[in-house]
This record gives sequence, structure tokens and C-alpha cells, in this order.
Amino acid sequence: MSTAPTDIRLREIESRDLPFIHTLREPEVVAHLGAAFRHVSTETDAEWLNAYRRQRDRQVRLVIEQGTEPIGVFYLLGIDWIHRSAEFAMALAPGARGRGAGTEAARQGIAHAFQDLNLSRLHLSVLSDNLAAKRLYQKVGFVCEGIHPQSTWKNGAWKDSETWALRTAARGA
Ligand SMILES: CC(C)(COP(=O)(O)OP(=O)(O)OC[C@H]1O[C@@H](n2cnc3c(N)ncnc32)[C@H](O)[C@@H]1OP(=O)(O)O)[C@@H](O)C(=O)NCCC(=O)NCCS
Repeated sequence: MSTAPTDIRLREIESRDLPFIHTLREPEVVAHLGAAFRHVSTETDAEWLNAYRRQRDRQVRLVIEQGTEPIGVFYLLGIDWIHRSAEFAMALAPGARGRGAGTEAARQGIAHAFQDLNLSRLHLSVLSDNLAAKRLYQKVGFVCEGIHPQSTWKNGAWKDSETWALRTAARGA
């Protein structure tokens, strides 16, 4: 059990974060994600940030900071204001993992989603073999809603993925 760090905060991504964001496109980071590795240029990343700024009504894209250093990202995507739901996604730089920062950032992101935005269901897709992510999701209250065998093409092979979700108590069991 890691001790929760006290100097974690979330803030919206800014242009100055693009060099850091670019480091998260590396194969070592993408290997843990459901998405396939793609080469991403710095110009594409700049476009990506501009595209996000046009979709702030349906997306929240935040940097996770420890002290003053960016260490990861936290996203709420595909926000559905009728069903009060969104996709939850996060990733930390390799050197920032395993110290409780991810759990603390997830807790802050969930509080933002439920308390500020009045969302009441968060859902995510995770590779079945991503044990660190699944442990984090379990710690902050997500439950596995389903397993999708051989659903995801990663590194030349099919892998299982899982849907996990977290609902507020007010939404019901
Ligand atoms: C998943 C991720 C966000 C977790 O953040 P983190 O800061 O490393 O996680 P924490 O230190 O807060 O906690 C991780 C928990 O998983 C546990 N864990 C780590 N590796 C594990 C493993 N191989 N098997 C089982 N549990 C593991 C830790 O012990 C800890 O649990 P504990 O507090 O009960 O001891 C981070 O590792 C990451 O960015 N990974 C790459 C990107 C990714 O996988 N994103 C999620 C895609 S769905």
C-alpha cells in the first residue's frame, strides 16, 4: 500500500505542456493502453490541442502535476450530458509510477467529475493484463462490468480488454 502524496494537482493542459505530452506518445507508455501505437509529430500534437479546445463541452483534458512538474494526464472524454457519463482515462510518465500519484490524481479527477460537473457514471476500457491500472481502479471504487475476449490488437497479437465503471450512490446500484 503506497502513501498518498500531498503535492498532486490537476490543471487544464496548456501549450507549454506539449513537449511533455509528446513524451507520452512513446511505445513504452502506449504499450499499456488499448490504443495502438501511432507515430505522432509535434505538429500533430499542436493540432490535437487545438481540436480539444474546440470540444471543451465534451472533453476535459488535464495535466497531473507533482509540485510544479507535469507527471501525467487525466481525461474525461465523450461527456454525455443526458446520461451524465464520461470515459475516464489517465497515464503517468514511467518515472512517476508506483508511488501513489495515480491513485491521488484519480481521486481528484473523480471528485471533479461528480462534484463539479455533476456526472454520475464514469467508464473505461483496460487491457486485462494491466494489473497496476486495474488495482488502481479497484482502489478508487470502479467495478469490472465485462470482459471482451480478444478484442484489442496490440503489438502483433489479440488481447482481452475489460470495461470498468464507477457510479455515484445517487445513481443507484
Ligand atoms: C496505471 C497507472 C495510472 C497507475 O498509477 P500509479 O501511480 O503507478 O499507481 P499507484 O501507485 O497509485 O497504485 C497502483 C496500485 O497498483 C499496484 N500495482 C502496481 N503494479 C502492480 C502489478 N503488476 N500487479 C498488481 N498490482 C500492481 C500497486 O501496488 C498499487 O496498489 P497498492 O496501493 O494497493 O499497493 C500508471 O501505472 C500508468 O500510467 N500506467 C501506464 C498507462 C496506463 O496503464 N494507463 C491506464 C490505461 S487503462
